[in-house]
Amino acid sequence: MKKKWIIISFIMFAVSAIAAVVLIWHSKHKAENVPEYVFLYADNQSANYPTTLGDKRFADLVYERTKGRIKIDVKCGAELGSEAEVINQMKYGGIAFARVSTTQLAERIPEMNVLHLPYLYDDSSHMWRVLNGEIGEEFLDKTREYNLVGLSWYDAGARNFYSTEKPITCVEDIAGMNIRVQESAMMADMVSALGAKPVEIVFSDVYSALQKGTVDGAENNWPSYESMNHYKLAKYYTIDEHIRVPEMQVCSEVVWNMLDKADQKIIKECARESASYERQIWNEREKESREIAVGNGTQVINLSVEEKKKFRDAMSDVYEKYCGDYMDTINKIIGD
Ligand code: GCU
Repeated sequence: MKKKWIIISFIMFAVSAIAAVVLIWHSKHKAENVPEYVFLYADNQSANYPTTLGDKRFADLVYERTKGRIKIDVKCGAELGSEAEVINQMKYGGIAFARVSTTQLAERIPEMNVLHLPYLYDDSSHMWRVLNGEIGEEFLDKTREYNLVGLSWYDAGARNFYSTEKPITCVEDIAGMNIRVQESAMMADMVSALGAKPVEIVFSDVYSALQKGTVDGAENNWPSYESMNHYKLAKYYTIDEHIRVPEMQVCSEVVWNMLDKADQKIIKECARESASYERQIWNEREKESREIAVGNGTQVINLSVEEKKKFRDAMSDVYEKYCGDYMDTINKIIGD
């Protein structure tokens, strides 16, 4: 009888010891290792590009401040699709976060075109005054019209034209060329206004379009021109700074609504902190990219003031078409 009790006590002790170990393991695991949420984040730029580094900073900050409850997996290089595909999936929550060019948002929320009209800003500081002010906040909120939540602004510098066969030194040079543009009606109209033929091509296919001669040129900022190797094919880079297209960090509204207020606050704060970081590394990367391209044979063409004015004057129809209903906002931007 005594022996039986010893065995029973031993079994009970063993069971409770195992239960305690499981419990400790489970709570430790829950608290430290197993996130409550794992979200996907999309970027179409490469792994060491300033926006992707900004995205990763954002993911790290969120992980740290939620003590591992929210894990964000950044997928770059268009692994999750083109920007247009990503935005479409975000509408339904398939992808939680992304960094996208505002031209792609403007295809779905037309008013967004106001933020990247050609020759709208005097310089980078002008654009940042606008984005960091009331207008910037209003436009972050406008993304709600497409079931997105705008979190913060990233820098993408100024865009310039580049060409493969002959340099663009004046409006007459670009007239008649086939120029790659983003999948954006406004960008296409901008190129048409210069007498060139716009060809809408997804970002990841531009290199092969330049290689095959489908296009005679394209337009982009220094870091994209360099990181996508376009400088190896299009040796003429014309500084006309025709447009500044900011980029936005966005969250799917479906995902946003799943989170409680405290987590939403953390996500907003981390997005903004990552944006300051991105802006800082953006400036360094612009210089580095220019050095790499020029060191490998890129010829830089600086447009004269008179020629730049001709480019700008050619935009009057674009302004008429895209400003119509939004003159108040445009005047506020110009006067900022
Ligand atoms: C920018 C931007 C990309 C965009 C690309 C383009 O470089 O960062 O998000 O796709 O322009 O020209 O398509």
